[in-house]
Amino acid sequence: MAGPLTNFFGWLMPLFVIFNADSINMIKKFAVLLLVGSAFTACQPKIIHNNEAANPGPAATTSKDVHTQCNADSIGMKHLDLNINVDMEHKRISGCALWTVDNTKNKLKDLKLDTYDLTIDSVAVDGKQVHFTLDTPVVHLGRALHIPVSKGSRQVMICYKTGESARALQWLDPQQTHDKKHPFLYTQSESIYARSWIPCPDGPGIRFSYDARVTVPKELLALMSAENPQQKNDSGIYHFKMELPVPAYLMALAVGDISFKSIDERTGVYAEPGMLAKARYEFEDVGKMVHTAEQLYGPYRWGRYDMLVLPPGFPIGGMENPRLTFCTPTIIAGDRSLVSLIAHELAHSWSGNLVTNATWNDFWLNEGFTNYFERRIMEQMMGKSYSDMLWELGYQDYVQAVKDFGEKSPDTWLKLNLAGRDPDDGLTDIPYEKGSHFLKLIELSAGREKFDQFLSGYFNSHAFSTITTEQFLNYLDSNLIKGDTALKNKLRINEWVYGPGIPANCPMAGQERFAKVDEERRKFLVGTAPGELATKEWSTHEWMQFLRKMPDSLPLPQMTALDKAFAFSKTGNSEIADLWYILSWKSGYEVAYPAMNAFLSSVGRRKFLEPIYSTMMKTEKGKIYAREAYLKYKNNYHPLAQESLNKMIFGK
Ligand code: BES
Ligand code: ZN
Repeated sequence: MAGPLTNFFGWLMPLFVIFNADSINMIKKFAVLLLVGSAFTACQPKIIHNNEAANPGPAATTSKDVHTQCNADSIGMKHLDLNINVDMEHKRISGCALWTVDNTKNKLKDLKLDTYDLTIDSVAVDGKQVHFTLDTPVVHLGRALHIPVSKGSRQVMICYKTGESARALQWLDPQQTHDKKHPFLYTQSESIYARSWIPCPDGPGIRFSYDARVTVPKELLALMSAENPQQKNDSGIYHFKMELPVPAYLMALAVGDISFKSIDERTGVYAEPGMLAKARYEFEDVGKMVHTAEQLYGPYRWGRYDMLVLPPGFPIGGMENPRLTFCTPTIIAGDRSLVSLIAHELAHSWSGNLVTNATWNDFWLNEGFTNYFERRIMEQMMGKSYSDMLWELGYQDYVQAVKDFGEKSPDTWLKLNLAGRDPDDGLTDIPYEKGSHFLKLIELSAGREKFDQFLSGYFNSHAFSTITTEQFLNYLDSNLIKGDTALKNKLRINEWVYGPGIPANCPMAGQERFAKVDEERRKFLVGTAPGELATKEWSTHEWMQFLRKMPDSLPLPQMTALDKAFAFSKTGNSEIADLWYILSWKSGYEVAYPAMNAFLSSVGRRKFLEPIYSTMMKTEKGKIYAREAYLKYKNNYHPLAQESLNKMIFGK
């Protein structure tokens, strides 16, 4: 393992070398300008337009979760028994949720739970039907369900069915799956969508264990974020158990024609039969990855680690459902080059699933830590020059996000203020990249060994609990900084957490491999034939760097030459394809349009769709093209992807 000194010199830390703060600012500004002026398209999950929301500052921040209407923190809600039927034909889940409660301490009279577009058929407390009420819907949050309880109440049973606009559910017709033979259903509960398929306390700060009985059509298999079956049975009834307490956003269900292949004794992959062999090949190293993660920050606590490859409409890259990561098929590149996404979801088994952000305002505690952890896993497995590429691409995303929000925008603070807003507004590159760069800074400043010990201690001491930003900062102060004022001054914590933009002491990764890519791009742009460029050993990330920093558009002969040499229009690699289609659109390179349309027609991952559609939306001709394509393909996209694309393309 590299010692702290090697790490120190592998990163460009002008602050610690010779420059003073002002020159750093200038360098940063220059770097920002350079990147902004270039043609790369950042991965940008969502653009927030509401820049007026002022962040209240450290003194005023609260740990109250403003995205749940439940009052479960006043009553113990320790366990859920779920008994549901999945009706694939009518696209509806119905059944009963039985909550075990402990009301002896607080004597709550009116239990409030979260619901969204649920029809409540009946509610019983300890076996007796009670009169319940539903509040009028609150935007984003849904309707609070009021249930009368008393001191001795033990069991609350709610029988219900889901509605048509259940935001967590994507129901796929056979045509929308990989094998095109059977329907498919999957859930996406993060951040506040569990309430659209289970009446529950839907805040990350409330954890419960669960058992479930799920009935599905006999030809399909059901899987959850729990102990899972590995094959179908004849009854269509499946039982699940999650003994460890999890928050509602980690409740997950998938139903489809799904098969399983094992990787090693504790890891394996689920996919539609026609996708299984490819997926198994791609994830060959995942068993090793779990061991690598354990060597870094302690034992994996969840038993098995399996992955489920979903049909292409899955709106995100991956979701860290406990024991069963859900992932997009767009990472099955055929050469194992995009498995860092699995490292990311696996890392959530510590940062997020074990130690959970208390509210969505503290989202960077989930995602920034996970991004950092992901890159440490990749460094261990692939070497430092490889993880440096991940850091650099992430830094570019960070710069782009700051540019999009504005350098002073409170939406670029680590501590967010999402009151009155959709918590998914916080799903930007800021928590991921600003968060992970802040942790990288702490690592470089304190030394890797010390920081790793600190992180292991953090995961252990907070296991199965939640944490606010302020609690984390206190913990950092007492367990790592420990009165070392030089270290404290170096970090400038407030600028990172309660300040906007890119702090001057932001570390930057080594450029060993990207410097070579930049040189090859330069040669190409001054006339070297693409076939003569030294691209032989390039990984996906080098190709991304090559394309991201191309000029905004290229003359058609250059596009043709690139395509002839590297067959970009035929690539099966989604990251490369996405960048190529954008460059093709801007350059008017119509040869790539059929491939782009095929991509738009099946892939539902927002990270890819949004940059392509938003590039089109910049011209009048493009707007017509985008509207036509979107109307044709939108049924293949998840309700959440449709929501953001509707806004972008039709302004509503
Ligand atoms: N937990 C997130 C996905 C998420 C966050 C969904 C918030 C809904 C609301 C997941 O771990 C994630 O970060 N996925 C990324 C993967 C990437 C950063 C490697 C994605 O889907 O792009
Ligand atoms: Zn994540």
